[in-house]
Amino acid sequence: MEHINISGGYPLSGEIDIHGAKNAVLPVLAATILCGDECVIHNCPQLSDVETTIEILCELGCRVKRENNHIIVNSGNLSGNFIPHSLMTKMRSSIIFLGAILARHKTAVVCFPGGCELGPRPIDLHIKAFRKLGVKIHEAHGFLHCDAKDFSPAGIHLDFPSVGATENIMLLSCISKGETTIINAAREPEIQDLQDFLNAMGAKVSGAGSSIIRIQGVDKLHSTEHSIIPDRIVASTYLSACMCAGGKILINKVNPQHLQAYLSILEESGAKLDIYNSSIEITAPDKIKNINMIRTSPYPGFPTDSQSIAMSMLSVAEGTSLIKETIFEGRFRHASELMKMGADIKIEGDLAIIQGVNRLKGTDVYAKDLRSGAGLVVAALGADGDTNIFNTHYIDRGYDRLCDQLIILGAKAERKN
Ligand code: EPZ
Repeated sequence: MEHINISGGYPLSGEIDIHGAKNAVLPVLAATILCGDECVIHNCPQLSDVETTIEILCELGCRVKRENNHIIVNSGNLSGNFIPHSLMTKMRSSIIFLGAILARHKTAVVCFPGGCELGPRPIDLHIKAFRKLGVKIHEAHGFLHCDAKDFSPAGIHLDFPSVGATENIMLLSCISKGETTIINAAREPEIQDLQDFLNAMGAKVSGAGSSIIRIQGVDKLHSTEHSIIPDRIVASTYLSACMCAGGKILINKVNPQHLQAYLSILEESGAKLDIYNSSIEITAPDKIKNINMIRTSPYPGFPTDSQSIAMSMLSVAEGTSLIKETIFEGRFRHASELMKMGADIKIEGDLAIIQGVNRLKGTDVYAKDLRSGAGLVVAALGADGDTNIFNTHYIDRGYDRLCDQLIILGAKAERKN
């Protein structure tokens, strides 16, 4: 069974570039179908979720070409308005094709999305918003039959600043008449990147990054080029890898503004950080300090996607740390795997109590989802002995050539069958 083998205890050194953000490239690729022409997207990482998105674009009739990290999409012949169950259930973000297809075709048929098992992942906020915008949605046998012929702009208040729902409303509303407003919108940098791309195609979207986004509908969009922002979660992963393995590394092509919450936790746990315009240098402390409480929350709060990585780091801190997971119910599944490595963690509902131990011990562990897999890699780098991390397909959803990058930094990591 394919796995990543890591021999722990080798301090890291050197420098790497951070690749484009998974959670930015996926909505931007979905948005390319809005212009009915050719778009060129730069800085696209090699990820299985990106490949799935390309499959969906082709299924809808687009012509797609990848040249290294550039993806060229021509949606001139967009014909389909149906995404097969097999593709829809491969990843959660497939749901944002709904807004894009309806904006172009006015009708769409999709099933409920899949993705990592992070507790229930409903789409009620998407459906509620779309119905408020005049979309008729009929559910039958697990499929949503949608009709946007009577779309009418409106003010939408999101009960929760959902990233996907915010993106879906932006995609549905930018080719329309009148102004749609999203109140309590998600503020993530990936939303801002989507706004920049939409506006480069001629849309009139403003406010991304704040909790109020305004979309002034236009008749048509046109082709453009766009470069995807760096992946802030991948950046936090490599910084924590250095914390656990020890040493000093430099990560380039990163936007430090996008990971402020994580950087402050790293400093509190003893890291020495030198922050430049598009690079961050980290020097690991001899011993990681505990953090009294980390509470995940929507951006600009501490990102839920970095929670498993922080737990791995705090498993070998001095003293007790608490992590409260407020975004997803099922997001502590890496804890049981860390306990196999000797971590002392107690889970009580949405609270993890982490009593730091001196060192973890290498063993066989299983990724339960994308970011739990990343957390296990981080833990293994500082553990005694060898760790084998299975279910690498989860990690491949969000990390481009993770092993290669770790080897550049001096880790003993290898992909094995
Ligand atoms: C996006 O997921 C990201 N994925 C996730 O990253 C990230 O963890 C999440 O935002 C939160 O930041 C992509 O961008 C592709 P949400 P999304 O809608 O849009 C509830 C990773 O590892 N909710 O903001 O699915 C939901 O259940 C992935 O890269 C509803 O209740 O997240 C969750 O508790 C994992 N009803 C919370 O809101 C809805 O209709 C946040 O969900 C929608 C969401």
